[in-house]
Parts: sequence; C-alpha cells; structure tokens
Amino acid sequence: MNVALLGYGRIGQAVVALAARPDVRACLRRARVDVRWVSALVRDLDRPRTGPPVPLTTIASGTVDADVVVELLGGAEPARSLVQAALRARVPVVTANKTLVARHGAELRALAARQRTAFVYEAAVLAGVPFLGSLARRPVIASARRFTGILNGTSHFVTTAVERGATLAGALDRARTLGYAEPDSTADTSGRDAAEKLAILLHAGGCEHAAPDDFPRLPLDVLNHDLISGARRLGGTIKPVVVADLDLPHAGAWVGPAFVPTDHPLAHLDGVTNVLQLTTIAGGVVTFTGPGAGPDATALTVIDDVIEAATGRGGPRASCGFSGARTDVTRALRTPPTAGWLLEIRHERERDPRAVARQLSAISVPPLQICAHAGAVLARTIPAPWKVVEHALQAFRAQGSTVVALPCLV
Ligand SMILES: NC(=O)c1ccc[n+]([C@@H]2O[C@H](COP(=O)([O-])OP(=O)(O)OC[C@H]3O[C@@H](n4cnc5c(N)ncnc54)[C@H](OP(=O)(O)O)[C@@H]3O)[C@@H](O)[C@H]2O)c1
Repeated sequence: MNVALLGYGRIGQAVVALAARPDVRACLRRARVDVRWVSALVRDLDRPRTGPPVPLTTIASGTVDADVVVELLGGAEPARSLVQAALRARVPVVTANKTLVARHGAELRALAARQRTAFVYEAAVLAGVPFLGSLARRPVIASARRFTGILNGTSHFVTTAVERGATLAGALDRARTLGYAEPDSTADTSGRDAAEKLAILLHAGGCEHAAPDDFPRLPLDVLNHDLISGARRLGGTIKPVVVADLDLPHAGAWVGPAFVPTDHPLAHLDGVTNVLQLTTIAGGVVTFTGPGAGPDATALTVIDDVIEAATGRGGPRASCGFSGARTDVTRALRTPPTAGWLLEIRHERERDPRAVARQLSAISVPPLQICAHAGAVLARTIPAPWKVVEHALQAFRAQGSTVVALPCLV
C-alpha cells in the first residue's frame, strides 16, 4: 500500500513513528494493510525532523499515483487543491485538517462520493476519540437536538490555569512551554479552532451548510480570575465551550467561555481534556471524551483511518442525508441560543446590585441570583432569547458600563 503524506510535521512524523512500532505493525498485518510511506510533501527540506526517514519532497506531484493520500498540512490551501486532485484520480484521502473539512467538507465529500472513493477525517474533531464515523453511519443519533462540548484543549488548559490564579498571558505562556499551544495561539483563543470543529459536527448532524464563521464567538480575552471566582460564588465555573441548540424556536450556537453549574458534568473536567455531549432526539445524553489533540493520540486515529481508506470501508465521508432538511436551524445558528445568562456589569462608580436587579427585571431578564463581586455586579438571569439579552446589554452600555455576557449551560 503506497501512502503519500502531505506534510511531515508533528502529526506526520508521529504517524510514521507509531506505524513502525511492532504492536501497531501487528494491527496493520491483521487488517492486511502493508504500508509503504512513499513520499512526504514539506516546505523546508532542511528542517530538522525526529521522525523516521521518509523521502521528502517540496513538489506536490506523485500523489495521484499513490494508493492512499494522507493530508496533514493544515489550512485551506494548498490542502484543498491537492485533496481534490487525489480524489479526482480516485485515490482515497485521509485528513486530520479541521480547517479543510469545516470549510470545504461538503464539496470534498460530494467529490469523493462521485468518484466512489473515500474521504476520511476522523481525527479532525476530538482527534484521539474515534466517533465521527459512528455518527456518519447513524443518522438518528447524529440528528441530535443539542451538541455541547469542550473541543479545544488549549483554551481548556488556559481557563483551568486562570481559575487557579494565573493571568491569561501567564497561562498561555505555560501552555506554550508544555507544548499545548502554538507560538501563535490565535486560532485557539479566538474560538476559530472550536468553531471549525463544531461546523464538522453539525455537518454530521445534517446541517450541511453550517459555517464556522457564522457562529457567535467570544474570544478568551474576557477571562480573568475575578470573573471565574464570581462564577464560583454563583454556584458554577467558566469553561470554553461550544453549544449548538437545534430545537426551534430557541435554537442557536455559541463558541467561547460559558457559565457551567457545578453539578454539570463539564464542570469537573480539567486541563486539556476534550468532551462532546450529544442530546439525542429521544432526550438522552451521549458523551464522548478523551484526548482532543496531541501527536500520539491523533496518529492512532490517522492510522485507523488509513486502514479504513485502504480497505474501502470508508468512514465519515458523507453527511447523513438530511441536507436541506435542517436549513431553518442552520440559519438560527448565527445567533446565540435562548439560555440563562451570566452578566458581569462593571461601572466606573460601583453599582448597587438591587438597582441592577430592578433594571434587568424591567428589561424582561430578571436575575435568579445577583451579587457584588470584585468591583462589578454579577447576575445570573432566567433563560431569555438573545434578542432580549442584547437589548439589556445595549441599555447597560448606554449608561457607560462594560458588560460581559456568557450563556449558562443546563
Ligand atoms: N497537532 C495536533 O495535536 C493536531 C491534532 C489533530 C489534528 N491536527 C491537524 O493535523 C494537521 C497537521 O498538524 P501538525 O501539528 O502536524 O502541523 P505542523 O507540525 O505544522 O506540520 C505541517 C506540515 O505540513 C508542511 N506544510 C505546510 N504547508 C505546506 C505547504 N504550503 N507546502 C508544503 N508543505 C507544507 C510543513 O512543512 P515543513 O515541515 O517544511 O514546515 C509540515 O511538514 C493540521 O491540519 C492540524 O490541524 C493536529
């Protein structure tokens, strides 16, 4: 089985190193797959690499002659063009590239289906937890009413560190030192990475046109120890989540920090752990959890994908046949869902929580809890549609307050 790699960075090298282990070789033999790494496309031939030697090239040709292509470049281009070329030549493609799948997945799945070849991307979301393939084969479970999760390990690590007293900048530095964050961690802190993963999940759930740039996103910058200790006083904590509520009329999406009550399962997770909860149409909750990234965890999933692609068993290559059926819901994902809200209202002159409570009640978002905390007023409101909450935020901002609004998970 001639396998051409596109990219020989952290994941590429981890894949080849892992595939050389005797126990993994035994698995490959059992699956009757004998892998030969014929080439790896890179930018810089002279970059030091610790992975096993593979013929490196800077010229992206030859992949159409391979038996399987494994794309691990990252980003939209040239990944998209190279994957298209391979699929057009009926070469099965494996990728872990969430940007590619979130932004061009529909087109690449359709191309793969037309060419009767495989397009497999199990490692693109919760890299070390193989579940996307199951969703693709199970339209009823995949057609969830709600997706809730922590899909970005870096922001989870940073949030946990801030909760324990670190500053945001200090927590990010520590994450870089430990190898959890890139030198440029904008994709993590802005929520772009999590939004791309959410889009891929929604595609599996039949919202074929869900686009990562459409979801409301709040960057991690709002995070500080005062906000988290305030959340503690109100019986919860803050976690960097994704939420997609697909039940009209309160449907909506959110990518960013959220208030998580202490009795919620997500409240007790720590560090870089990733988790996804699906609320099924029957109302039950199905949870997937495990390593969301990291070279070894990702490499395991990529190798299984290579086996699937090589043996024609496919994988999550098509959405579940609901295309179009969830168009209204997809449109609703451009605003936050109806939810309870944690509001941090900060004014130059400290405000009386009772006066803030009266003002919130007058705008139809009465607080369930309210307190003064670290120079601000913190309120946890009743569930309210975003339109009403937005109106409340505008009213406070018009009075010169700065307001942070985070949805409360239930
Ligand atoms: N890191 C993780 O934990 C993780 C987990 C799940 C999924 N993923 C995904 O896996 C993919 C690879 O991630 P990674 O961490 O291995 O990235 P990486 O270390 O930056 O490796 C990228 C590789 O692609 C090559 N490359 C990039 N652009 C290129 C271009 N225009 N032309 C030729 N070669 C190019 C690079 O060449 P040079 O080496 O010469 O620079 C490098 O070998 C990404 O899509 C990422 O999102 C990563």
